[in-house]
Amino acid sequence: MSTDFILVTGGAGFIGANFVLNWVAQEGARPVVLDKLTYAGNPETLASLQGDARHQLVQGDIGDAALVSRLLTEHQPRAVVNFAAESHVDRSIVSPDAFVNTNVVGTFTLLHATLDYWRVLDASARAAFRFLHVSTDEVYGTLGPDDPAFSETTPYAPNSPYAASKAASDHLVRSYFHTYGLPTLTTNCSNNYGPFQFPEKLIPLMILNALEGKPLPVYGDGLNVRDWLHVADHCTAIRRVLEAGRLGETYNIGGNAERTNLQIVQAICATLDDLRPGARPYASLVTHVPDRPGHDRRYAINATKILQELGWQPSIAAEAGLRQTVAWYLAHQAWVDGVRTGAYRQWIDQNYSARGNA
Ligand code: NAD
Ligand code: TYD
Repeated sequence: MSTDFILVTGGAGFIGANFVLNWVAQEGARPVVLDKLTYAGNPETLASLQGDARHQLVQGDIGDAALVSRLLTEHQPRAVVNFAAESHVDRSIVSPDAFVNTNVVGTFTLLHATLDYWRVLDASARAAFRFLHVSTDEVYGTLGPDDPAFSETTPYAPNSPYAASKAASDHLVRSYFHTYGLPTLTTNCSNNYGPFQFPEKLIPLMILNALEGKPLPVYGDGLNVRDWLHVADHCTAIRRVLEAGRLGETYNIGGNAERTNLQIVQAICATLDDLRPGARPYASLVTHVPDRPGHDRRYAINATKILQELGWQPSIAAEAGLRQTVAWYLAHQAWVDGVRTGAYRQWIDQNYSARGNA
């Protein structure tokens, strides 16, 4: 059998596509991407791989058992890396159904089809196989200002439908290891930023709004804290866990970069003042809007386990990574134009007009 393939679900989204690009550059092995191509999935992000025989994009749903089984049988991958998910908290508040369907039922279907595939592999392929599930720190809930950062033993306490659906998927993955012996790994990481992020999330939304002279809608007092991790560091961490993670374990991945939302927005504005000066400082566009319901106050990651066991730590400092990201959006107008379709404008209207800031 070939052990040259990996199946990457959600590989046309922000982190999945960065992972695929990074994988092809570093490993030379062949990723088969399974992606439903929802509003967040974008084949353009993988355009640089077009015509490259090492990569294949299949449009389809992780909840389609027959399709998943066919892809596994056909390609005989040595790993499944599951990025596929509905990923935006605000959308999960407006329409939670898709989050339960994809993140819970879809992950279950993918897991079970993988188990059926794994069970009939020969002994050496079965021993080498990995199912890596990409999850989030949001499953742990929210922290007070002086609470210790989330570790792998922090109890789950998800607060949004998005976080609850990811928590459910993590539990299913855990159960497939303990019950059936499927060789699983789970990573829980903090907020990612970097190239190719869909501009519904804080950092690209603020960059693009600022460039258009639109208000920069900061929820509530803007003092919610997130830990920020550059997507390239996240991809390196996933590769390291895939390579050497202990089976059935979870690994927290963080950027050692806790910042308030206002600090992030101000840093974006200062970078734009420098790289693309306007008539007025961009920070004059900051507008406080009504808060997100159930808005978690603080996330922080204790990434000691992955450092001690696997020797991984982030390499991109937040300020440098943020500046590089702002510069990336300035230099990739065609990609930006491509993702800001009618559906995108409809979401922006829906989310921000309710806050009086369309
Ligand atoms: P994204 O929304 O940019 O991409 C998700 C991808 O999954 C899209 O390409 C979409 O088309 C695809 N998809 C959605 N439903 C699918 C289905 N049913 N079948 C197949 N494909 C489907 O998300 P992202 O930011 O790249 O996040 C990737 C993963 O990382 C998610 O599991 C998310 O929970 C997790 N994560 C993200 C962050 C972050 O800051 N972005 C942080 C921690 C964890
Ligand atoms: P987001 O990028 O949606 O990630 P998450 O909710 O998964 O952490 O939001 C990051 C932070 O930025 C979060 O505290 C909510 C806040 N935020 C705003 O203040 N304004 C916005 O328009 C958006 C999208 C987010």
